[in-house]
Amino acid sequence: MTRPCRSMDKGRTYQTRTQMNIQQIREEILGLLRGTGREGIGQTIDYILGSTYFTARCHTHHHFEGGLARHSLEACRWALSHRGDVPADSVVIATLLHDLCTARSPRSSHIGGHGRRSVRILEEVCHLRLTSEEREAIRLHMHKEALTLKGNPLARIVWLSDKTSAAGLIPLRDRTAA
Ligand SMILES: [Fe+2]
Repeated sequence: MTRPCRSMDKGRTYQTRTQMNIQQIREEILGLLRGTGREGIGQTIDYILGSTYFTARCHTHHHFEGGLARHSLEACRWALSHRGDVPADSVVIATLLHDLCTARSPRSSHIGGHGRRSVRILEEVCHLRLTSEEREAIRLHMHKEALTLKGNPLARIVWLSDKTSAAGLIPLRDRTAA
């Protein structure tokens, strides 16, 4: 059962940035992506490593170096724990890659937009095989329409995880620490 986040206050002070370092975040993200075994995931990882994905900032929250990767992993962890019957590989792909458009790469400078741009990068540049639900969830992650879509619970989970992370409500703890 998914629950809406408690606050959308973009001015909220973000207090958890020191809980995991960017190297730990990077290893967890790459491991999650490899674990999907999805056709094209190797090319997608190559694209990410050649882009600013692990150093970029988000625009309106997580506005610090590495913010994009931290936000993406926060959303992924939250969504995995609220996914119900939604396949885990779809949750991993849609949450970790929904804001891929924010990372700069010379390979995608010709593609515009936001959610739609992420989808185009994944399909046209990385040749990642997306399901129709994943494509729709990434494309609509900025739109409330995602909450009312029939037949695509993934879109709702991605929307909620994105907004919950953006509100600073997901502390990112190092699960490997004793
Ligand atoms: Fe996001």
